[in-house]
Amino acid sequence: MSFNNQITSEEETLRQKEIMERLKERIANISKELGRPLTYCSICFGCQMNAKDSEKLEGILETIGYVRTDSEDCDFLIMNTCTVRENANLRVYGRLGQLKKYKKKNPHMMIALCGCMMQESLVVEKIKESYRHVDIIFGTHNVFKLAELIETKLDTKGMVIDIWEGTSEIVEDLPSDRKYSFKCGVNIMYGCNNFCSYCIVPYVRGRERSRKPEDIIKEIKELVADGVVEIMLLGQNVNSYGKTLEPKVSFAKLLEMIEEIEGLKRIRFMTSHPKDLSDELIEVMANSKKICKHLHLPVQSGSSKVLKDMNRSYTKEDYLTLVDKIKTAIPDISLTTDIIVGFPTETEEDFMETLDVVKRVRYDSAFTFIYSKRTGTPAANMEFASTDEQIKERFDLLLNEVQNIAKETCARFEGTTQEVLVEGVNEQDASLVTGRLSNNLLVHFPGTSDMIGKFMEVKLKESKGFYYLGETV
Ligand code: SAH
Ligand code: SF4
Ligand code: F3S
Repeated sequence: MSFNNQITSEEETLRQKEIMERLKERIANISKELGRPLTYCSICFGCQMNAKDSEKLEGILETIGYVRTDSEDCDFLIMNTCTVRENANLRVYGRLGQLKKYKKKNPHMMIALCGCMMQESLVVEKIKESYRHVDIIFGTHNVFKLAELIETKLDTKGMVIDIWEGTSEIVEDLPSDRKYSFKCGVNIMYGCNNFCSYCIVPYVRGRERSRKPEDIIKEIKELVADGVVEIMLLGQNVNSYGKTLEPKVSFAKLLEMIEEIEGLKRIRFMTSHPKDLSDELIEVMANSKKICKHLHLPVQSGSSKVLKDMNRSYTKEDYLTLVDKIKTAIPDISLTTDIIVGFPTETEEDFMETLDVVKRVRYDSAFTFIYSKRTGTPAANMEFASTDEQIKERFDLLLNEVQNIAKETCARFEGTTQEVLVEGVNEQDASLVTGRLSNNLLVHFPGTSDMIGKFMEVKLKESKGFYYLGETV
């Protein structure tokens, strides 16, 4: 492993662009020999951060001449991995096994693995030993290097492995292949410094680094000029944005700067850690015309004891007070959350506290997870206070409660007319289009594909629990 911060980000961008130029020629030559274009297939697991990284990887692959396919029977397969829970890892190994047959058939095929799982040395050892058909392995800190790694692979025989333990560099201005023409994720920070005791992310994504406001604003302005109307600002804890910058800039200030960008219509962000959510941010949100009325505010547990063991730095009461403050300042806000059931020290009483929070806050939706032990985190050494059966029972109970409440909460806008950004034609019924409300809920209504990327006024006629049926007015 290496810790690389010798060169500046501008030099690195130029260097990578030169490599891409060289590779473009080489790929074109191989393609000529074969008499067909070379194809790539991109698979992405995990969170929005990974999705954004995959767009960057796809941008590089398109630039050097690969053509996208959904089939794993391709010339370049890249799998961006997640390791937040054990089952995320198992899925990757399963998929890898299946790829062997394509590789046997196609001598030109390259398989690349990257992302959070690759930052764990045990994983890389296992792949080196048991999955010899993998060609390239890299991690979360050097996504921008893909072209260089492909070039190295073309010139060498063995597996190319390049994992960095950390980085202080942020390499700007490389290509990115956007999934939607009208909306886009924008990284505002990388890494995490919170070390919640169950979580592997700080170990695989490194220390918190914020992008400079001017770089973020430049990127958003370019996106808007290119047709983007909605952006999602991305970070593991956006509320601590700017703390490492000189001079410091708060997240609320950054939002105010972004709000000024002409042509940009909607601003979303993810994720907010309750401990760092400032009054300033609530005020900016309440007064903003562009920031969406949606806040993802992971609670993780309702028990102050468990929250302490989780190293979350807030109590149940702190969280509920914060929710009250937000709801008072922004009455039509939609709140969503993440909850972990079965953290090692969680007892039946602790779980009842979680249920109590769910009943009091009444989330629009909640992602519920069963605790998964991650080796290397502090919680991995804690004794379990409950059995697997008890945890499973709690999980089912919670899911049921969350869904019942969400159904009622989501219905509260029934009968109103709202602005909807159309995202696509409905997958089940082509006479309908699907759009998103400011609060993140989906609406299906009669429409045509030319509405995609446009804002429509839609009457929400009927709530179906997690989505609405509507019609344009
Ligand atoms: N940075 C975000 C969350 C990133 S991970 C935040 O702090 O809110 C997304 C979610 O996965 C977390 O909110 C948590 O609920 C869940 N998670 C993380 N580690 C987990 C583990 N070891 N077991 C089960 N769920 C976990
Ligand atoms: Fe993980 Fe906590 Fe960081 Fe979120 S804030 S990524 S849960 S350590
Ligand atoms: Fe998974 Fe990495 Fe995101 S572990 S949840 S892809 S930061």
